[in-house]
Amino acid sequence: MRRREMLYAAGGGLLSPASLAAMQVGRAAPSSSKKIRLGIVGGGFGTQFSFHEHPNCTVTAVTDLRADRRARMQQVFRCDTAYPSYEEMLKQEKRLDAVAIFSGALDHVKHVEAAMNRGLHVYCAVPTCQTLDEAARLKSVVERTGLKYMLGETSYYRPGCIHARHLHDSGALGEIFYSEINYYHDRGDLGELVENKKTRFYEPDGSRSWRWGLAPMQYPTHCLGFVVGVTRERIRSVSALGWGSQHPYLTENRYKNPYWNESALMETDKGHMVRCNVFWLVGEDGERANWYGSNGTLYMANTGRHGDLFQKRLSKAEAVKYPDYLQDKMIPPSMRHASGHGGSHVFLSAEFINALVEDRKPVIDVYDALAMMVPGIIAHQSALKGGERMKVPSFDKA
Ligand SMILES: NC(=O)c1ccc[n+]([C@@H]2O[C@H](COP(=O)([O-])OP(=O)(O)OC[C@H]3O[C@@H](n4cnc5c(N)ncnc54)[C@H](O)[C@@H]3O)[C@@H](O)[C@H]2O)c1
Repeated sequence: MRRREMLYAAGGGLLSPASLAAMQVGRAAPSSSKKIRLGIVGGGFGTQFSFHEHPNCTVTAVTDLRADRRARMQQVFRCDTAYPSYEEMLKQEKRLDAVAIFSGALDHVKHVEAAMNRGLHVYCAVPTCQTLDEAARLKSVVERTGLKYMLGETSYYRPGCIHARHLHDSGALGEIFYSEINYYHDRGDLGELVENKKTRFYEPDGSRSWRWGLAPMQYPTHCLGFVVGVTRERIRSVSALGWGSQHPYLTENRYKNPYWNESALMETDKGHMVRCNVFWLVGEDGERANWYGSNGTLYMANTGRHGDLFQKRLSKAEAVKYPDYLQDKMIPPSMRHASGHGGSHVFLSAEFINALVEDRKPVIDVYDALAMMVPGIIAHQSALKGGERMKVPSFDKA
């Protein structure tokens, strides 16, 4: 056996690089002439998605409160119809089957409810929700209406996460007893943060946007996507700490959040350990994880300092070369191009439309979406209580 093949020979069976490459990323795109008529709200981050390139989707209408963003959306999504607000779109546009929501974080649950109460399926950007009350409302509206909900968590389709899922499912990592999950998104020059009103921390009128002062752990899905999206485990308890300094971002925010950075130790329902960091002030950036299993470890790249590595126990670490996941059958050929957040945007767009055409549940359903979010809400509460270990409520199906 060649050395590289040896690398994957572990635990539950022998797995060659060729068989790893053959593992599917998702269910194949359906062959159908059905068209999903989609409405999209939010012309900032939202314009980075490619629903309109899917052969089974037409972007029927777009909306943003800002005229410049509406115009951009019409251009990107090749769409004739634009509405001045989401509320107007839902009231007037009769042709829709589904909506994709890219409004600010504080409006997500309200906007999901409005769509589902009108009988529309929903794709929603992260974060899932902001409070336990919103978590319960989200679960309730999805269960009551029976409509399809998908969270657009970009970590789920990063190559490292797809690979970790495959290694986990094949047994090559063994039992993953510990994961390090990180989301580092530095807020930049602290003087400019206050002075420069052109950044995303401000609305066009100069008022502070929803991002200003948001607690790190209120945005945990990029991290927890690497746990829920790999082993499907749930977090059952958490203890967290936070660090902040005297800066208007922390002393003058609507959330009363005093922290730039929060770090949590979490326990899963299988008794495994997770160390979760969300930092807003840090000399590093990116979303990545290291998974430690009883047979080996997978390390995602540390901001270019080294490539991704796989290290089997008792062996040397070796560079991981990912298969070309873009060629996976889940992506229609018209969508096989580079996209944001580790190439994840085309996967998320394709999966949502594929699922609606097939009339099946998309990946990252409401239960996974809440499992990627609620531990962060509790972690922030724990940090505010000096690290008290707290139980994380379950929002899984009863
Ligand atoms: N990697 C990721 O998954 C990732 C990355 C970036 C942003 N996001 C998420 O995507 C969402 C959008 O991000 P953004 O940076 O564009 O935020 P943003 O605040 O700049 O944009 C939100 C847009 O929604 C519009 N909007 C709000 N309410 C509306 C309404 N009632 N009707 C019509 N339009 C309305 C606003 O006018 C605004 O243009 C956020 O929730 C953010 O958390 C996720």
